[in-house]
Amino acid sequence: MKTIIEPFRIKTVEPIKMTTVKERRRLIREAHYNLFSLESEDVIIDLLTDSGTGAMSTNQWSALMKGDESYAGSPSYYRFENAIRDLMPFKHVIPTHQGRAAEHILTFVVADGHGKGKIVPNNTHFDTTRANFEDAEIDARDLVISEGLDPSNEHPFKGNMDLEKLEELLASEADNIPMVEITITNNAIGGQPVSMANIRGTKAICDKYGKPLIIDSARFAENAYFIKLREPGYHDKAVKEIVREMFSHADGMTMSAKKDTFANMGGWLALNNDEWAEKARTRLIMTEGFPTYGGLSGRDMECIATGLEEIIHEDYLQYRIRSVQYINERLDAMGVPVMKPAGGHAIFVDAKRMLSHIEPLQYPAQALAVALYIHGGIRGVEIGSFMFGRQPDGSEKPAAMELVRLAMPRRVYTQAQADYIVEVFQELKNNTSKIPGLEVIWEPSSLRHFTARLRPLAKA
Ligand code: F0G
Repeated sequence: MKTIIEPFRIKTVEPIKMTTVKERRRLIREAHYNLFSLESEDVIIDLLTDSGTGAMSTNQWSALMKGDESYAGSPSYYRFENAIRDLMPFKHVIPTHQGRAAEHILTFVVADGHGKGKIVPNNTHFDTTRANFEDAEIDARDLVISEGLDPSNEHPFKGNMDLEKLEELLASEADNIPMVEITITNNAIGGQPVSMANIRGTKAICDKYGKPLIIDSARFAENAYFIKLREPGYHDKAVKEIVREMFSHADGMTMSAKKDTFANMGGWLALNNDEWAEKARTRLIMTEGFPTYGGLSGRDMECIATGLEEIIHEDYLQYRIRSVQYINERLDAMGVPVMKPAGGHAIFVDAKRMLSHIEPLQYPAQALAVALYIHGGIRGVEIGSFMFGRQPDGSEKPAAMELVRLAMPRRVYTQAQADYIVEVFQELKNNTSKIPGLEVIWEPSSLRHFTARLRPLAKA
């Protein structure tokens, strides 16, 4: 049987409020053309993020009832720790309220009071990872392979670290590099995977220079499944084995449990180094909580522990990767410029090509995101000049790419809803010349994309 179906039944449903194009024109105007300002009830298909938006299973909901909320030594913590260690054999497991809290604590440890002059290389830092390092004056360096920056290049592991560049950097700056990081999958460049050979190669360079390798692991199971599908020698291996091998090459990890554990909240930092772990736990007590709960309630830790057992099911991963690929392929076939190959968690549309009549500083990707909302009630997110254009000196310059990311929540939307997304693009595609660019009429001093107000320019 070739058809891949959703490997679950739906037991609880959330009704979607249906709206009309006319209503959505008013709603987006009232939200000042910023999709973050919409009320989520006014969205039909919400693809803003795959973070914290997954559907929990019956086992996770029942695990939630087992949550023990003791301040110290809760059995829920030990279940959480064991579930993590079963896949990621690190010595110390430190719970945090989400991924960025783990990043914050790790940054505190590696900066060690003086971040200036230090460099942390990564294939590509996610925004919050970069922001944490930069806040400590650490230089966050992206060293992804060049294929990763070309939206149409079909390299099977576009997320890979450029090992030559890494070696070069370590050869000249080893004294200033406290750690090396690798992000799986590589979210910032399209949810693209990293191969086992590349993880191994990164580790070999780290070993040569005596540097720890930390994995930013938010979508580790999707990465492992891509290795199974695409890397010679892994086809017959169980995903669990692949996951264990990936982490066996690392000295620690940061995790956002809001992605590949189906939990709505949570994260952790795991480390082998006793001295780093001791510093991290001291900081944890000040900023998150006691070491056996960190930023989490016992019930959150139960849901995460159960989610870790479910996320490596291969029926699920096959459906997950295929359902994102399915939308990507249909859009590609109708001539919508999408990033190829499809990433693990999202479809990325190249708005520079799709709306070529709109100048970069009139925000073609934001214009496309607004049009998707008006025409179909679909909410994606702009990753382009609206997000990145404003420079620290106040000037504005176009971003490298103008993308709309449509991130798929886990186990949430059905095949008919996927077809609906494709249909909305089909309609839009024939009317792109009518989509106007936008201008910013108010913005805060930083991170403007979350709250800025915009208005459409007169139609071309
Ligand atoms: N690392 C990666 C690769 C991420 O994608 C994210 C979050 C984080 C770390 C931070 O984790 O949100 O739990 O604090 N990405 C979300 C997204 C927000 O929409 O891509 P967090």
